[in-house]
Parts: sequence; C-alpha cells; structure tokens
Amino acid sequence: MKILFATSEIHPVIKTGGLADVSGGLPNAYARLGEDVRVVLPGYLSVWEKLTDVHKIAEFDVRCAFRSYRVAIKEARSTGIDVPLWIVDIPELFDRPGNPYLAADGNDWWDNGERFGLFARIAADLALDRYSIGWKADLVQANDWQTGLVPAFLSEEAVRPATIFTIHNMAYQGLFPHSLFSYLELPWHWWKTHGGVEFYGQMSMLKAGIEMSDWVTTVSPTYAREITWPQFAYGLEGVMAHKQAQGKLVGIINGIEEDVWNPATDRLIARTYSADKGRVAGKAENKKALLNHFGWHESEIDLDIPVIGMVGRLVWQKGIDLVLDLMPQILEEHNAIFVVLGSGDRQHHEALQKLAIYYPKRVLVYLGYSEALAHLVEAGSDMFLMPSRFEPCGLNQIYSLIYGTPPIVHCTGGLADTVVNATVENIDNGTATGFVFYDPSLHALKSTLLHALYLYGKKRTWQKLQKQGMTQHFGWQESARQYLKLIQ
Ligand code: ADP
Ligand code: GLC
Repeated sequence: MKILFATSEIHPVIKTGGLADVSGGLPNAYARLGEDVRVVLPGYLSVWEKLTDVHKIAEFDVRCAFRSYRVAIKEARSTGIDVPLWIVDIPELFDRPGNPYLAADGNDWWDNGERFGLFARIAADLALDRYSIGWKADLVQANDWQTGLVPAFLSEEAVRPATIFTIHNMAYQGLFPHSLFSYLELPWHWWKTHGGVEFYGQMSMLKAGIEMSDWVTTVSPTYAREITWPQFAYGLEGVMAHKQAQGKLVGIINGIEEDVWNPATDRLIARTYSADKGRVAGKAENKKALLNHFGWHESEIDLDIPVIGMVGRLVWQKGIDLVLDLMPQILEEHNAIFVVLGSGDRQHHEALQKLAIYYPKRVLVYLGYSEALAHLVEAGSDMFLMPSRFEPCGLNQIYSLIYGTPPIVHCTGGLADTVVNATVENIDNGTATGFVFYDPSLHALKSTLLHALYLYGKKRTWQKLQKQGMTQHFGWQESARQYLKLIQ
C-alpha cells in the first residue's frame, strides 16, 4: 500500500515537540511493515542543511486569490528517516528563519492560514498524483490542524485515497477568520457547522480534518475518551462524541524511536547503561555528569540526594505553574535537587530564573531547547515530573520509564495509559512503574512526590520500580499495525 504522511515537523529535520518524534517514527514503522511511504513536509529555511540527496521531482505554479507562487517539490533523504521526504518548497511562505509556526516576536506568522492552507492543498494534489510524479497514495495520514485541510480537499474527489486524521493536541485548532476561507477559495459548501469547517463564525482547520476524514485517531485511548468531554475538547466535544458514536474515533498510543531513546546505545549521555548490566553504575555516572553540567563539583556530589527532572514546553498544559509552587515547599523541608529544561511562556521563565537564584545548586534551569541535555536529564535524574493538566500521549514519561527514571504523572491521556502507579500491591506484584496522582492540584502533586521521595530511600524497592519501567516495550511496530488495521 502507498501511504502519504503529511506533517509540519519531523525529527531529526525540524522539531518543536512530540509531533516531530511521531513523524520520525511512525512512517519508518510503516516502511518496515512493507508499506511504500512518502512524508510530505514544508520547506522551512532550516530543513535544507539537514537533508541529503535533494532533487527536484516537480515544479509548477499555484494560484491563491490574486497571488501566484512558484512551487518546487523536492525529494530528499535524512539520517534516521528510512523513507523519502517530499519537501514543498515555496520560498515566499517557508524560507524564514526560526520556528515553523512563530515569528521572532513569539506571535504566529501573520500568514499561517495561507502557508498551511496551500501546503495542505499541494499535499492533497500529491496524493492524487496531480503533478505526474508517478506515485498515487492509497492512504493519506494527516496530523494536527496544519494538515487538517488535506482530508477535506481529498473528500471532494470521486476516486481518492482513504484518509486518517490524527489529533496530537486539541488545544491547537488552527482558527482563522472567514476572510481566509474566501482567500483560499475553498468550496462554499464547507462553510457549515455540521460536517464543515465553520466554528463559531471562524474557520477551524482542526475541525476540517475531523469532519472530513474517514477516520479520526488520537494518540492514546484515554485521550480519545477525554476529547468527547467539554473540559478537554474546547468546544468540539459534540463533534467528537458524534465521531465516537459512529465508531470513527480511535485512540492509538504512540511508540518511541527505540534507536534514538535507548540508554544502552544513547550517544548523547555520559555513559550507556541497561536494566541488566551496570545499570546503577551507569546511571550514577549520568547523574554526576548532569550535576556537573550545572556547576556541581565532583567532590560536592552526594548521590543519595534525589534529582527530580523535568523537560518540556513551559506552558499551562504541562502544569509548570504547579511545579513552580511545589519547588519551594519541597526544598524548604527536603534535601532534593530540581532540574528543569524547557522553553515556553515568559512568566514561567522569569519565575524559574528567580527560583534558580534563590536556591542555587538546587534549582537547576536551562531555558531553551537542547536535544543533548534532554537525553542527559532523562538519564541523570532519579525521578521525572510530568504533572500535565492534559496530555494527549506524552513522550517524556515513556523516555523516563526506559531510562530508569520513574515518572510522576497526573492521571490523564497517555500518562494514564503508560504509567502504573506504585501502590503497595503493584510494587509487590511487580507491575508498578511510576507514580500517578488523580487531581491536577499542588496538594496531590506534592503528596505524590513525597511518596516517591520516601520510596527512593528504600533502595531495593526503588530498583525494582526502575527495572520494571526499563523493561517495558514502546516500539512503533505495534502502533503502526493498529493504524493499518483501521483501513483494512
Ligand atoms: P509535546 O509534544 O506536547 O510538547 P511530548 O512529551 O509528546 O510533548 O514531546 C515533547 C518532545 O519534545 C520530547 O521529545 C521532548 O524531549 C522534547 N522537548 C521538549 N522541550 C524540549 C527542550 N527544551 N529541549 C529539548 N527537547 C525538548
Ligand atoms: C502533542 C501532545 C503530546 C503528544 C505529541 C505527539 O504535542 O501534546 O502529548 O505526545 O503531540 O503525539
């Protein structure tokens, strides 16, 4: 089967979050199952230096209202990605430095609607082989609002590939004014509330993908249920409940790229380790390297002091505000070290910087993006915080399981589906892998962290917990099979 995977980011070429990890893993898994896969991606300025074997396979003009763009489709390769990439090169729209979605001032690019609207139109045309490349898709998988219009364009065709629209986060809806709808010259009959793109007077690219695809999937079974409820669906709960009733909403848990995230082979950490041999020694070396990175001297390091790590976007979704309130309360009463790697909202940056000054060497903060440090935090921390208010899947808690760094998570979305709470019973029967709390409040987070700190002191129990997490399997193969089963 020929599969076109449409995405706005892919690891290791361009990444802002977990969508890139998924795009870097799932198409590879399809290919390993024998499918013929292409990934279509916008040609942002920063992608070119990451690509090899770049060559043009099509060139044409597209018109958008009064403007016309010269477009080149370039096929390319990248290390770590086993399938050909099709890069949509439109210099006027994508040849810009920095973030794929945001300008330097932190606001959305002013023309995101046009950028991703056109990208989606071209991706749909590629699936239909409108540019005579000689490859026609049987299945198109689109991801998040940036590619929401892909299934919509395809739904207009009498003969077309099957479409899957995968939601990675309902909080980002791709909302634009009606004027964009006219500007993109979209079919007038799409402008409706039921089954169309209209959403409270605006156009929603997320809704387009949901309403006009054959299957809607999301990245965990629990999140698939949650998004039929008002508190998780941002106004789309009715649409989601309808999809669910039709049996067209499915939750498939993400996998991880096991050759990228594996403590036994990871070249970005200080020393490799695994669950069976040299685990304790290897992990301790990484703890030292991590503390060292933040200015601790070898001689000052006491390995018994727990290091609590966190990596992620510093936004409300991730519960960073809870962590900011938590840190002083813990640090006033306990000997512990927090390490936070992330970037996001300015007020959280400022609050973290203040805490780092107030608790030198105990609140260790790196504000920014660093892939190497993300790996070292996973390997060098003793436990990992992920108190997300909602989490469609979440990948960092899975990485931390694999790295022997038991995660402390709120019971939501993919966190609920991947972490088994350390109750007395679960520890006894060897199923516990981390710590789960059931209410996104400071009180619940704090009491759960205190429980983790207590168990950290019981070395045998702690090692059992680590080992249980490290021996879990989260490869992409199983998830890829579930996606393929949908359309069979
Ligand atoms: P989300 O996609 O909502 O941001 P996920 O847990 O699914 O959350 O994925 C986040 C991905 O981005 C992980 O691979 C994580 O390691 C990475 N990441 C997030 N913030 C940073 C950062 N500041 N530096 C390096 N990697 C980061
Ligand atoms: C989104 C979600 C995250 C998920 C990722 C990949 O960014 O916030 O939970 O893991 O997409 O599916």
